Amino acid sequence: MKEANTRAVDGADVKSAYARWAPVYEVIATPTVPARKLAAKRVNALGGRFLEAGVGSGSALPLYTDNVRLVGVDLSHDMLKIARERAATMANVEAIVEMDLMSLAFADDTFDGVICMFTITAVPDAAQVVREFARVTRPGGTVMVASHFEARSGPWWVTDRLLTPFSRRLGWNPSMPIDPLLAIPGLTLASREELPPMGLITLLTYTKAG
Ligand SMILES: C[S@@+](CC[C@H](N)C(=O)[O-])C[C@H]1O[C@@H](n2cnc3c(N)ncnc32)[C@H](O)[C@@H]1O
Repeated sequence: MKEANTRAVDGADVKSAYARWAPVYEVIATPTVPARKLAAKRVNALGGRFLEAGVGSGSALPLYTDNVRLVGVDLSHDMLKIARERAATMANVEAIVEMDLMSLAFADDTFDGVICMFTITAVPDAAQVVREFARVTRPGGTVMVASHFEARSGPWWVTDRLLTPFSRRLGWNPSMPIDPLLAIPGLTLASREELPPMGLITLLTYTKAG
């Protein structure tokens, strides 16, 4: 248990955790549905070619409108299997690819934007991952990151503290601080919104300098 508190969740933890989560993920993740819908609505308002980083089972894919083209990436073979089945009939999904967000295999300025939901607290270095998002986004493009971050008080503080010792088994860190994501080179933080349920989720929206 001590080790669970002393090192970040890594790729091996994620692969093993999401092999267990995959069959039940979308039921367990029901509380995140309103925030996912709102974030997808923002992407739809922008349109263009988006990277969905940590696409998981592809539960957001049906939420995007036809003006959005998508490439989805994720580390978990088991989650990707569900995403691929779902995407098979979707004309606006270009590809679903197994890839580590820590080092994206895309050229600079490839996408009009990046959307990353409920994934940034599962990576070993969240700031490095958002720097990667900045790199693959074209100048003037948009990066959006939605997640639960460390609660400083209230009922979520209690839940965070109870769950944090199990981070590696859960496959994410329930108490990751937001601060390292508030200043990312090359990105301007345009907004920081608290989303339902009860402010559990924060949506960070950045723009890349044009
Ligand atoms: C909680 S799920 C979220 C899935 C989806 N975005 C959603 O909203 O339902 C987190 C996802 O992040 C993926 N993930 C975690 N670390 C990753 C990494 N380093 N690179 C790529 N995907 C990663 C996991 O495999 C898992 O599918």
